[in-house]
Amino acid sequence: MSKTITLAEVNEHKSAKDLWVVIDNQVYDLTKFLYEHPGGEDSLISVGGRDGTREFNEVGHSQEAREIMKKFLVGNLAASDIKKKPPVGCREIGLAVGAIILGMALVYVIKRGMANKN
Ligand code: HEM
Repeated sequence: MSKTITLAEVNEHKSAKDLWVVIDNQVYDLTKFLYEHPGGEDSLISVGGRDGTREFNEVGHSQEAREIMKKFLVGNLAASDIKKKPPVGCREIGLAVGAIILGMALVYVIKRGMANKN
């Protein structure tokens, strides 16, 4: 089983000499990778000691990058530090409301069509 690490612990490793980053709730020690990173050291240092998932995803890293990162895994982020996603997102609510309006409009049109026939 891999080690459980809190965000506070990760935050103690944010210098170029000792750099930990959280990506997808997993903790990576990127100290040795810093100067090999094709995206430069500054980008990694900028997310040192914290969650860099958003920044990592924004770049659209390749499958190769995802393979490389496995070598630097040091543990899992503690459950208490994992941000919980809201059970229903805004997008889902929007889609549901849209579907209901569309359904009601359809019923209205069909009913009018039937009324016109009589
Ligand atoms: C373990 C973590 C990481 C690994 C193994 C990794 C690896 C790589 C690799 C292999 C590339 C070359 C392009 C590709 O294959 O996708 C790359 C590019 C890049 N990475 Fe990372 N990366 C990591 C984390 C990050 C983070 C946290 C950031 C931002 C804060 C970042 C920013 C960038 C940028 C800006 C590029 C250059 C993209 C370009 O020039 O098109 N990387 N990285």
